[in-house]
Amino acid sequence: MKPFRIAIDGPAGAGKSTIAKLIAKELGIDYIDTGAMYRAIALKLFRTGTDYNDPEALAELLATTDVDYTGGSVYLDGECVDGLIRTQEVSEMASASSAVQAVRDKLVALQQAMGERKSLVMDGRDIGTKVFPDAEIKFYVTASSRVRAKRRAEDMKAAGQPCDVDQIQKEIEARDYRDSHRANSPLTQLPEAVVIDTSRRGIKSTIELALKAIREKGYVKE
Ligand code: DC
Repeated sequence: MKPFRIAIDGPAGAGKSTIAKLIAKELGIDYIDTGAMYRAIALKLFRTGTDYNDPEALAELLATTDVDYTGGSVYLDGECVDGLIRTQEVSEMASASSAVQAVRDKLVALQQAMGERKSLVMDGRDIGTKVFPDAEIKFYVTASSRVRAKRRAEDMKAAGQPCDVDQIQKEIEARDYRDSHRANSPLTQLPEAVVIDTSRRGIKSTIELALKAIREKGYVKE
């Protein structure tokens, strides 16, 4: 059967991964978090003290680094690094290093191979534009920066971490700007994408909307 690729793009904190995971579960297909793959590379850059602006050092690192996403976890050189990639430092490093073409070339090739034979849901910034420009359906998931900052602050409070919503909002806006103004594969809202604004929409209604759109595109269970 022809694979059915579901591309979900949008800014940080809009709810892409929550939506992607639930859709994948409902349809019984794989979910790939491409942001986690960029974060794994960022972690390796930190660990090795490699400068991503040094083309030779970066090429050497990329040639000797293995990144995989399987079973809901990301692996760096065979080590599960789920618990190490959500820090502020890794977020910043992932945002900066993901702007470098060599990093993107490596991860996009891996991601395209993942969707060659299997149906899947993939979320990121360039899934509909670069990874699967011919995806069977594309979503653009967004929310206001205030709503996204408040959600992040709630998560941090729940984890017992101190936080300041205004500061978080500023960081989110700075990251949005970088992700959407970089020369290589900037975050773009494609005209063919189904837009879902989660600012005032609950998760249940969001998933219903997404599943309806997927079925209308002719999704058939494998
Ligand atoms: O979705 P996230 O916050 O985990 O992504 C981390 C960083 O990686 C983000 O700043 C943008 C980058 N990224 C990207 O450039 N392309 C993707 N497909 C996914 C993430």
